Amino acid sequence: MKHIISPLDLSLEELNDLLETAEEIVANPKRFSDACKGKKLATLFYEPSTRTRLSFEAAMLNMGGSVLGFSSADSSSAAKGESVADTIRVISCYADICAMRHPKEGAPYVAAQYASIPVINAGDGGHNHPTQTLTDLLTIKNLKGRLDNLTIGFCGDLKFGRTVHSLLNAMVRYPNVRFIMISPYELRIPEYLREEVLDAQNIPYEETRNLEEALPKLDLLYMTRVQKERFFNEEDYIRLKDSYILDKKKMTYAKKDMLVLHPLPRVNEISVEVDNDPRAVYFKQAQYGVYIRMALIKKLLEENETC
Ligand code: NCD
Repeated sequence: MKHIISPLDLSLEELNDLLETAEEIVANPKRFSDACKGKKLATLFYEPSTRTRLSFEAAMLNMGGSVLGFSSADSSSAAKGESVADTIRVISCYADICAMRHPKEGAPYVAAQYASIPVINAGDGGHNHPTQTLTDLLTIKNLKGRLDNLTIGFCGDLKFGRTVHSLLNAMVRYPNVRFIMISPYELRIPEYLREEVLDAQNIPYEETRNLEEALPKLDLLYMTRVQKERFFNEEDYIRLKDSYILDKKKMTYAKKDMLVLHPLPRVNEISVEVDNDPRAVYFKQAQYGVYIRMALIKKLLEENETC
């Protein structure tokens, strides 16, 4: 049984196939309107979400399938103390595939051990968010035309931002990719990523606090929100929350073809005045999220049928 728990659960070849399918869907979504007829997707969301849950549901509905699920731990039996292992055994009887978001790192991995349907990690704590990464890759490939030869700036909460952790893991597989990590010292990328991913593979990267200085060097700027819900005390959050605000003036330092991505939700880190800049592609990125999830659900269901 194939599950998607980490961005590395797909080989580069599988990833390319998936991106190709997503591009076919972008070109002709109607062709796929019956691709999952009679199939059910369960969305098990123990943490808040707008885009991820609804884009999963839209993806399944676009392919003629149906959806069921819950959108908060309070409205599930987790509130009564049920374990993830028991919940997933039961959901396996009701649905053909599931997407799970959980505040605890590793919860979707545990679910996958007990599931008899494919489990997709829709975000586990501050750890990984592989389908956001697939969304980001499709956005970059389509709008930039390549996934290699890029200087990528990650800006904001690089410590708790799971979308950053997953995208970093995925991008180091492409040739000639460099990173500039822009964050306050307290929100630097975790040690394990620095040592086990960047240093271990000799990937070139710089760390800085200064967004203005980094901007002219970037092909992509990946902005992130300071992850309020993962802070241990509110004082630190308040002190750090507005560390970076991308505005029109700062955009003048950037290349003419630099793209600004953001997994959303945005709080203050991108001023709304940037939204009309053609380089700001975060709303397009949200749209790509539906197409890539269509491709992923279709692939996992097809593979499961041949199991
Ligand atoms: C992200 C997440 O949940 O990690 N949102 C998303 O899925 N698009 C980013 C965030 O919450 O800041």
